[in-house]
Amino acid sequence: MSVQIDHLHSESGSRRFAPTAEFSAQAEASPELYSDAQADRLGFWADQSRELLHWHKPFTKILDWTNPPFAKWFDDGELNVAYNCLDRHVEAGNGDRVALHFEGEPGDSRDITYAELTAEVKRATNVLIKLGVKSGDRVAIYLPMIPEAVISMLAVARLGAVHSVIFGGFSAESLRSRIDDANAVLVITADGGFRKGRISALKPAVDAALQSGDSSVQNVLVVKRTGQDVEWNDRDLWWHDELASVEAEHVAEAFPAENPLFILYTSGTTGAPKGILHTSGGYLTQGAFTHKNVFDLKPETDVYWCTADVGWITGHTYVVYGPLANGATQVLFEGTPDSPHPGRWWEIIEKYKVSILYTAPTAIRTFMKLGRQIPQKFDLTSLRVLGSVGEPINPEAWMWYREVIGGNITPVVDTWWQTETGAIMVSAIPGLTETKPGAAQVAIPGIAIDVLDDDGTHVGHGNGGLLVVTEPWPAMLRGIWGDPERFKETYWDKFEGTTGAKDGPLYFAGDGARLDDDGDIWLLGRVDDVMNVSGHRLSTAEIESSLVAHPLTAEAAVVGASDEVTGQAVVAFVVIKFSQAETASHEDISAVLRAHVSQQIGAIARPREIFIVDELPKTRSGKIMRRLLRDVAEGREVGDTSTLADTSVMQIITQKMK
Ligand code: WT7
Repeated sequence: MSVQIDHLHSESGSRRFAPTAEFSAQAEASPELYSDAQADRLGFWADQSRELLHWHKPFTKILDWTNPPFAKWFDDGELNVAYNCLDRHVEAGNGDRVALHFEGEPGDSRDITYAELTAEVKRATNVLIKLGVKSGDRVAIYLPMIPEAVISMLAVARLGAVHSVIFGGFSAESLRSRIDDANAVLVITADGGFRKGRISALKPAVDAALQSGDSSVQNVLVVKRTGQDVEWNDRDLWWHDELASVEAEHVAEAFPAENPLFILYTSGTTGAPKGILHTSGGYLTQGAFTHKNVFDLKPETDVYWCTADVGWITGHTYVVYGPLANGATQVLFEGTPDSPHPGRWWEIIEKYKVSILYTAPTAIRTFMKLGRQIPQKFDLTSLRVLGSVGEPINPEAWMWYREVIGGNITPVVDTWWQTETGAIMVSAIPGLTETKPGAAQVAIPGIAIDVLDDDGTHVGHGNGGLLVVTEPWPAMLRGIWGDPERFKETYWDKFEGTTGAKDGPLYFAGDGARLDDDGDIWLLGRVDDVMNVSGHRLSTAEIESSLVAHPLTAEAAVVGASDEVTGQAVVAFVVIKFSQAETASHEDISAVLRAHVSQQIGAIARPREIFIVDELPKTRSGKIMRRLLRDVAEGREVGDTSTLADTSVMQIITQKMK
């Protein structure tokens, strides 16, 4: 097991922060959540679901686990996800509440109330109907962080169709493979977006993706955001023209609880990205429950801000579905933290009096490097809960977050979950949990987590092992789009037939974890060939195959090397084809290959460094020993090389690095 974040071991959990009496007294969550869930786990989720959501047709069944690992939650119930996020708040008299404080990158801003958002989504739904989109159809969404991204997702959901949001940073090729895998009938995009003071185009990537003409896409709906020139094709339609051309009214229809809601692609250890499938009733239940309790949400008074892009799962569950189901007021920000000045985030918090902030450790570490004098110029006293997600948060960053951003008083919750889990699984609950810097700590009420060794045996306090989910949960993925076998193999086969503690299917998350002496959970990073760069999941295999696809490359190995700011960084070791090796300098080759990966996958996958080597270290059976390459990439003494086929390879590589 290659546990990479070793320094977490040194934190013993001795620093603790008990909730203040004041906070506990007003907290949404009560200790009964744990005892109720303990007493009757399924009954607990049924109660939460009834309380938090509107069911057009109430469910009578809670969980069907007769055909594991294929779960059905609330199967005979019917609901409309968009109705739950929109109309019902308006009907309850909260139509004037701001749903989105939109803050554009160039400084334009716009408040959108629940009534306005509902009206926009109704029109957008009518546009989808006009374009022939039906329930069950897939719609690809490739947009910047603008209100139309949220509106599009909700319009697709309202129709019982399935969205596949593709992060705007992904390339035309990545877009095409995702469109093809899901057979999307429509793409919703924009002319472009704003990034760091410049215009960045989106539409050309869609044009390039659809260039060959043989795709399932019938139309491309284009939001005008930047006003830049765009090429126009027969299939293209302007968003504003189409919205103006349809009726304003649309009545939401109820769909079965297990109706697919979205597909979201994420990287695995091998092959192409997997389309993680989520459905409606269970997903929305756990999304709303965790959003309310983990962030102690008071919809009437809080201003919530999750900095994630809607292209990732965090944006799905904690920008769109959780907060809107709960009727929250939130900030939607198009830009980056440091543009036009390094205090932009803190300025936004001051402007909107943000009270709940949810962000990633990589951002916190970047701000730490810039220094506390920047946030200290702004009034951050509105903040009362801080959340972290995406990767393990080192105790030092946790402390800085609490002290500098949280005024030494706010609770900090470190939330562990995944694209696959759909919603938060492990986290402290403010007002209830005594927090420990660096630990995600405890399973959410109603969620069953364990740490097991390879044999499936519980490791016991003070020991490390593999994180597993031992019981099905409402927001769990329902499968990998089009590939039920891969779904089983990837997540459910690991502990099959082991002699450990529990019968029945165990979900293997791919993370290492340790239980401290109190039984609290400390996440230790991935145990497979998945990297985590700035909280984004990247596959070593996918980047390797991109590198190898270039005519210069003979062989490539990619590792995630630890990085002070981004958590991990992509480092590649490349063997150049003999015929090419003499013609260009290493710098040129490395620049060409970095650009190639960026173009094939997206800028987030671009290697930080590429080392040109003569050979890769391999075992006698031909397996690349990434562990040794990681030692080199992190500037460490190279570990045990005795299982290498040729033990001199590492000597040559390390000599070259010097
Ligand atoms: C992987 C999932 C969950 C939304 C963002 C990432 C890592 C996530 C934590 C945390 C330690 C974390 C895990 C996980 N991860 N949150 N609080 N502490 N590790 O979603 O792209 O599906 O990645 O991110 O390694 O498996 P994702």
